[in-house]
Amino acid sequence: MKYVWGNMKIFNNFKMIICGLLFSCTLVLAIDYDEEIRWDWSKIDLENPENFKALKKLEYFGTAICEYQNSGATHLPNTNWAEWEKGAHTDGTPNILRNQQSGVACDLWNEAEKNMDAIIKLMKDLKVNSFRFSIDWSKIEPQEGIIDESAIVHYEKFCDALIKAGITPVATLHHFVHPNWFEKRGGFEHIWNIYYFERFCKIAFARLATRIPIWCTINEPGVYAFQGYFRGVTPPGKKDFATQGKVLENLLRAHVRVYKALKAMPNGDKVKIGIVHNILQFEPFNNVTPLNQIERLVSNLMNHIFHKAITEFFKTGIFKFYVPVMANVEYKESDAKKTLDFMGLNYYSHVLFNIKNPPCPGAREGDVWTDMPYTIYAEGFYRAIKEVSELGLPIYITENGISDDKDDRRAIWIKRYLYALSKAISEGADVRGYFYWSLMNNFEWDFGFDPNFGLYSVDFTTQKRTLLEGSKALVNIIENVYKA
Ligand code: BGC
Repeated sequence: MKYVWGNMKIFNNFKMIICGLLFSCTLVLAIDYDEEIRWDWSKIDLENPENFKALKKLEYFGTAICEYQNSGATHLPNTNWAEWEKGAHTDGTPNILRNQQSGVACDLWNEAEKNMDAIIKLMKDLKVNSFRFSIDWSKIEPQEGIIDESAIVHYEKFCDALIKAGITPVATLHHFVHPNWFEKRGGFEHIWNIYYFERFCKIAFARLATRIPIWCTINEPGVYAFQGYFRGVTPPGKKDFATQGKVLENLLRAHVRVYKALKAMPNGDKVKIGIVHNILQFEPFNNVTPLNQIERLVSNLMNHIFHKAITEFFKTGIFKFYVPVMANVEYKESDAKKTLDFMGLNYYSHVLFNIKNPPCPGAREGDVWTDMPYTIYAEGFYRAIKEVSELGLPIYITENGISDDKDDRRAIWIKRYLYALSKAISEGADVRGYFYWSLMNNFEWDFGFDPNFGLYSVDFTTQKRTLLEGSKALVNIIENVYKA
């Protein structure tokens, strides 16, 4: 036994996973499984505009960003993230890869004040007609109950400039970042803290609702809870299923409350309000039993805690987050589905779980890796759109894009994923908008500046931005299909 488990400390770590797996068999087997699909890309002509023609139905074609990732801790010092960047994990490794610091990142806050034309030009050159960004709570309410009027004016002017340029603003009220005073109060771990978030949302909405027609309450509640409370790689760095489930419940409660509050305000009936959901399919790597069956069990559990519990909540009004022995959170909200005018979908890829080599994800022959630990998998995008379509709501693709430092895979990503989107729309999916992640290279959370998701590369010493060759595939599709 000693040999197997080493010592009790290790046993305790494993215990969490093993118990979860064994006891969840009954639960996870009951979940219907969405099978991996593969298309023969050699038979699909990605240069043929016919294969993209359903994209014409999109009302919005834009890019997406988050304020913190583009303005950094220097401009947003009163945030949970600015605090997190200074710290390290219990084993001494810095919270951010190689102790990188966001600094001013792309200097967006400053540039929006002084030279908005330069930001608009980036978008104009891409031929996009909309822009998804986050309204930073810590700028508007840097200290509890103290509102900074100049920050609200900043966003008013920001939106006015976009609108004048023919670019529709799309706002996100919570994109992983909140004021540090809110974090110190326990953030979304406590149901009573939702009050503070709702209060901020109402302040922002009161001033900006006439300018912004589309509002996203919370960006990726599943990812926020998974990274911050299960993996512990983002603030507050906890590793505990029960708190993860509780935080997720409170984020969903917060969404419901904010939706209802904003709808009751002037202009509430004129705008669209939804949430942003990330789907990342976990699936078995091996085809042979019993490996396949074990991998399927693990995958089902991961899908449940990462995204399916959220999709189910909006489908049925019941949020059930269940990891036997470890977590059993339940929340019923009969109005759940009525609190969405649309569903925002963020999709990047899937994870092939390989029991022979955990935790490294597997890849099929011919799969192409991105610079993140996942491959290009456009079929998964198509599957995720189908999954979300079951809600019977309009969909916005609020994020999709590749980290590709060498810029040798960006074009293929764009073509394959937009092909998948066009196919889903032509088969009836009610997708109304597509927002590419991201406008320019920026601060990628715990990975620092290593990943490069931008359509523009950025020289972070001069802030010079350059349109990447691969990004031209997106511009071509917008010009030759979408706007033609
Ligand atoms: C997040 C972004 C992030 C992107 C790429 C999404 O999960 O919303 O903030 O930069 O993924 O990793």
